[in-house]
Amino acid sequence: MAAAKVWLVVALLLLVALFSPSEATSSTSLRRRQVRSLLKRLNKPPLATFQSLDGDIIDCVHISNQPAFDHPLLKDHTIQMRPSIQPSGLYGEATRPFTQTWNQNGEKCSDNTIPIRRTKEEDVMRATSVTTFGKKTHGGSPHPHSHLGGVTDGHHYGVAYATRDANYYGTKVTINVWQPTIVTSGDFSLSQLWITAGSYENKDLNTIEAGWQVYPAMYGDDKTRLFIYWTRDAYNTTGCYNLACSGFIQTNPQFVIGGSISPVSIYGGTQYEYDYLVWKDPAGGNWWLQLQGNYVGYWPSSIFTRLQTGVADTVE
Ligand SMILES: *[C@@H]1O[C@H](CO)[C@@H](O)[C@H](O)[C@H]1NC(C)=O
Repeated sequence: MAAAKVWLVVALLLLVALFSPSEATSSTSLRRRQVRSLLKRLNKPPLATFQSLDGDIIDCVHISNQPAFDHPLLKDHTIQMRPSIQPSGLYGEATRPFTQTWNQNGEKCSDNTIPIRRTKEEDVMRATSVTTFGKKTHGGSPHPHSHLGGVTDGHHYGVAYATRDANYYGTKVTINVWQPTIVTSGDFSLSQLWITAGSYENKDLNTIEAGWQVYPAMYGDDKTRLFIYWTRDAYNTTGCYNLACSGFIQTNPQFVIGGSISPVSIYGGTQYEYDYLVWKDPAGGNWWLQLQGNYVGYWPSSIFTRLQTGVADTVE
């Protein structure tokens, strides 16, 4: 009986396959081709590979072969291994090391390589389209200047910010790492810093963002992950999460951007909090990210407009 049912289903599926319109088939195969070419672009040939306990595959990719250098503006870019200055006089120097799941046993990429979370086919298939993969799709970010907190497009948030007739050359924040429960798969939760110049109104909003997020639709699980973001046109056509588009140049062999952070803080238990420092290097104008006292890499000034020649007008 059961076998007969299975055969009936198989027969029906064959019928559906035979009679489905050819355009549906060709759009599926077009999408497959797009997915394959995106994966080829993002997943550079590794010099070493680690299997992380959280299910991620971590590739050690030569530093000069990272996705950033596919950016047309970065073709002739000379990589900067260190900022020219380190901002001084900042409070609270980091002591506890920032730890991720992939290197719990001391795994490490060798010098001149950086660890990259391999993008899997299912990661791309979860995106609404191949072209929106790795991008913010509904622009539901708090509008600078307007809120101390509130609700925008269903996003509930609280913000602390500094915005004055001032030029901001960077900011430092300490962020506690939590793993909030995500109820429906479309939801996400995050804690981050935001450095902006320009505005939504003028469509020239430039942002630099870093923090952690729990975002099942993006990563396929409910882990707390280190993330970065940038845009120079109010999230319209430029920018993306992590290394999913060319932009951020990573110099550190120790951190996986998009990789899960562990351990995380628990209510009534040990608290894990880490320092994020972002500043504009006066030599060259690149925006450096330092995490818990370690240089992670930088957003080259050339990928921006307002943040290229100028400095930030808001930090959140
Ligand atoms: C987004 O970019 C497209 C193409 O460059 C442009 O036509 C459109 O006006 C932009 N929309 C916004 C809201 O900036």
